[in-house]
Amino acid sequence: MDVDQEKRLAAEAAAEIVENGMTVGLGTGSTVGYLLPALARRGLSISCVATSPRTMRAASELGLDVKPFDSIDHLDITIDGADQIAPDGWLVKGGGGAHTREKIVAAAASRFIVIGDSRKLVDVIRAPIPLELLEFGLPATLRRLEPVVVREGPKSPDGGILADYHGDVEDPARLSQWLSATPGVVGHGLFPPELVASVLIGRGDSVERRTVRERR
Ligand code: A5P
Repeated sequence: MDVDQEKRLAAEAAAEIVENGMTVGLGTGSTVGYLLPALARRGLSISCVATSPRTMRAASELGLDVKPFDSIDHLDITIDGADQIAPDGWLVKGGGGAHTREKIVAAAASRFIVIGDSRKLVDVIRAPIPLELLEFGLPATLRRLEPVVVREGPKSPDGGILADYHGDVEDPARLSQWLSATPGVVGHGLFPPELVASVLIGRGDSVERRTVRERR
């Protein structure tokens, strides 16, 4: 299996969905790394919003028009990778630590398209679940969330502490609700199926398409 080819095929298929005049949310990660040049090659007139400084830099260097996300309140489409994709459409995102911004940009779009290689398909969602935590009161937040491991390395672009929840997942909806309701949790990497329009998975030399929900 050529993972990079699978990522590239899924990303190129997603780039073909974008139409002239659209507002487009750009995700973060190595799969999105294949999306950006594919989108730039199409030469469309589109306005983009990036989910990370890394994506913003890469997209701008390719000539894509990246706007700050304080000037647009709705996106036509967002395209992003994922770490885990379950059969019912639940996702885990945030391996790269961009999950808080990624969720905001996914939720702002009429269509959220997930792209990935075939290793991303899982039978059930498992830990680790990425977290972004407020630095204020961090020890108390960590105590509530146990077992949780704080990541080495820089904070998020919004000053959040990046960490991973290592407990049981069992019911992603219940865990998602609990994490969202835990004081000090800024964001978490569980994305519900309601956010996801479709999934494009590279498998070998072709692309599998799954519709998760109809267009909003
Ligand atoms: C970034 O924080 C993540 O959510 C990525 O979108 C996700 O980890 C997928 O990354 P790759 O495309 O590098 O596998």
